[in-house]
Amino acid sequence: MKKLIIALFAAGTLATLAMSEDAGPQSPVVAGGGGFKIQRPEMYHHGWLDLNKNGLKDAYEDPALPVGARVEDLLKRMTREERLGQLWQQQMRPGIDEKDGALVAAGGLGSFLGAAPDAGLRNRLQRLAVEESRLGIPLIFGFDTIHGFRTIFPIPLGLSCAWDEQLIERVETVAAAESAAAGVDWVFAPMVDIARDPRWGRIAEGAGEDPWLGGRMAAAAVRGFQGASYAQEDRVAACLKHYVGYGAAEGGRDYNTTEIGLPTLRNVYLPPFKAGVDAGAATLMSAFNCLNGVPASGNRFTLTEVLRDQWGFKGFVVSDWAAVNELIHHGYAADKAQAATLALNAGVDMEMVSDCYRTSLPPLLEAGKVSAATFDEAVRHILRIKIVKGLLDRPYTTPGKLGAAAAVALAREAVARCCVLLKNDRDILPLHVGGGTVALIGPMADNRHDLLGCWSGLGRDEDVVTLKEGLAAALPGAKLQVVVGCDLTTDDASGLDEAVAAARQADVVILALGEPASFSGENSFRSDLGLPGSQQQLFDRIAACGRPVVTVLFAGRPLAVPAVLEKSAAVLMAWHPGVQGGPGIADVLTGVVSPSGRITASFPRSVGQVPVYYNHLATGRPRNNYKEGSREPLLPFGYGLTYTRFEYGPTCLSSDRVLNGAITATATVTNAGPRAGTEVVQLYLRDPACSVGARPVRELKGFQRVTLKPGETKDVSFTLAAQDLGCWSVDGKWVVEAGRFELVIAPDAASGQMVGFSLDP
Ligand code: NOJ
Repeated sequence: MKKLIIALFAAGTLATLAMSEDAGPQSPVVAGGGGFKIQRPEMYHHGWLDLNKNGLKDAYEDPALPVGARVEDLLKRMTREERLGQLWQQQMRPGIDEKDGALVAAGGLGSFLGAAPDAGLRNRLQRLAVEESRLGIPLIFGFDTIHGFRTIFPIPLGLSCAWDEQLIERVETVAAAESAAAGVDWVFAPMVDIARDPRWGRIAEGAGEDPWLGGRMAAAAVRGFQGASYAQEDRVAACLKHYVGYGAAEGGRDYNTTEIGLPTLRNVYLPPFKAGVDAGAATLMSAFNCLNGVPASGNRFTLTEVLRDQWGFKGFVVSDWAAVNELIHHGYAADKAQAATLALNAGVDMEMVSDCYRTSLPPLLEAGKVSAATFDEAVRHILRIKIVKGLLDRPYTTPGKLGAAAAVALAREAVARCCVLLKNDRDILPLHVGGGTVALIGPMADNRHDLLGCWSGLGRDEDVVTLKEGLAAALPGAKLQVVVGCDLTTDDASGLDEAVAAARQADVVILALGEPASFSGENSFRSDLGLPGSQQQLFDRIAACGRPVVTVLFAGRPLAVPAVLEKSAAVLMAWHPGVQGGPGIADVLTGVVSPSGRITASFPRSVGQVPVYYNHLATGRPRNNYKEGSREPLLPFGYGLTYTRFEYGPTCLSSDRVLNGAITATATVTNAGPRAGTEVVQLYLRDPACSVGARPVRELKGFQRVTLKPGETKDVSFTLAAQDLGCWSVDGKWVVEAGRFELVIAPDAASGQMVGFSLDP
């Protein structure tokens, strides 16, 4: 077929092409039966347009047509082989363009996921698909942009601790632009799995334990990645993952079995996905776990009944890596053919990496064992997203800048906003060291690599500014003495004496302790939540020196470190903060930024307590404890200190009953301390008697960030509608049951006095 390369077109207009899903934008062409004539070739940016034998374009190539019409026109021209190709995603690896080029050129592959995306390789592969394949259907390129692409931000669990949807949007906007500039069309993010067990290393990738907050963060991330339209060149399609229940892995062991009762599935695990779907997420990823006996990647109830039929999801579902083939390992399918049948029928549209669809669907279709309609529907879902993304009209990437100064500045801001101050005795922080001596001790003191955290994209160690470097810049007058003291993970204690000597000379000790990046993320789970290696020994020796100790903790999860909390004068949770860890943390330690982060996952006292989370159901005997002590976590969900002190008045309600479908709760919040500060004011609900299924002891229903000057007071109000009082019943129905409820406005999930009201029948 003759190829026609159309000239470049001025940037800007292209963002509007293919944005509309139902009606095409102002047409650059004149449609005509069976094709269309190019009227304004300059309307195509990087456009590679084939003319059909009449010298016309095919209808599906017409950006002016509605997306649905383009999908149908394209689908009807595709052979079974070409349709099958759209359902397969392969890993992009060096040399692949030579090796598998023929497959792409034959239309036998629909997508790549990249280990190391680069616009050049992407464009070469794309050229094979667009110029060499019969119909020129573009590939879609996916990548794990989890907390930044090149500019690495704090891990998602850390980001969620800012309790700030705008911050999430800004961060994901940068992550999207950097990803897109390297040829990524589609990110495998946000991860919206609820995680109640910090042994599970993937708790680092999500927004913690609360479904309501998780939903807000999911929607914010989708808005950040996709913008007003992911057709824009600096935006990417989002992927909600891992659908569903993956975070409930038994024992915290990754990939493990999950048992989640229907009400908990509906009330806890599904809401963040629903929020992300409502925000317009283009795709979802089906999870690895077996959910109530049916693997999530073969689960028709979740993938079709809930996702498509009840929520109206219009995008496509990609399996997690080889999860279709793993239906065999789960003992759910006997062979690839059965795995392909179960996954496709359940609602998995695209198979990541494994080849069950590719090898088995042709004979299954031939034999009528898989319906052609189901098969075509999967193809439609994928074509639709490719067209909405604008890939048919602009298949190639213009490489762009990564790691721009504004992105780095946002990373620094995000670090400071994500840090959670866990303790601050006698206001030792912010530091006032003047010309004194600061001993910075610990394996995270001058560590670059581990500050990046898990899933660090194209982040580079050399981009990271360490805590030592951040503090040196922030405390120019002080004498900063740095001693590593011990290794992050081994038992080597040979540096402890040097560390103790340094501590003895210091006016203040900053201990930088924690976990390596490799302890969290996929396939990284722990059976101990303490400090790895000899770090606890280091802590104990330093704490015994009698100098004031400020501990900065770096980790991908809540740690169980009660002795650190008890013996440090101050503790700052810094998570794995990314490239600007050092400056961002120094901003908080020195008071340039006042801490305002709040933990979004409870901190246990010991690993034996987990799972421990605030929104549990009540038992019949709520006051019984462990032989070793309290049943409550050491630090509750929502907890975090500031450099000032906030006082709460009682929660007052607009009425003792819901009137005109709503109720308003108000509390007076006062900054009673000496400094300005930002408080995260939280609203919790309780339904003490619910006949359709018992409800948690508390549920988050709202929050507001309130910044007050010293002595300033504000009335903080929240209004709930009757619908906000509802829940999913044990038999899977949404119910708003009349009766008594309670509300409290509080600084965290364990404080405040509930006040009651009623909802009339
Ligand atoms: C497996 C992980 O579970 C998933 O989160 C990721 O997106 C895919 N691999 C692709 O890398």
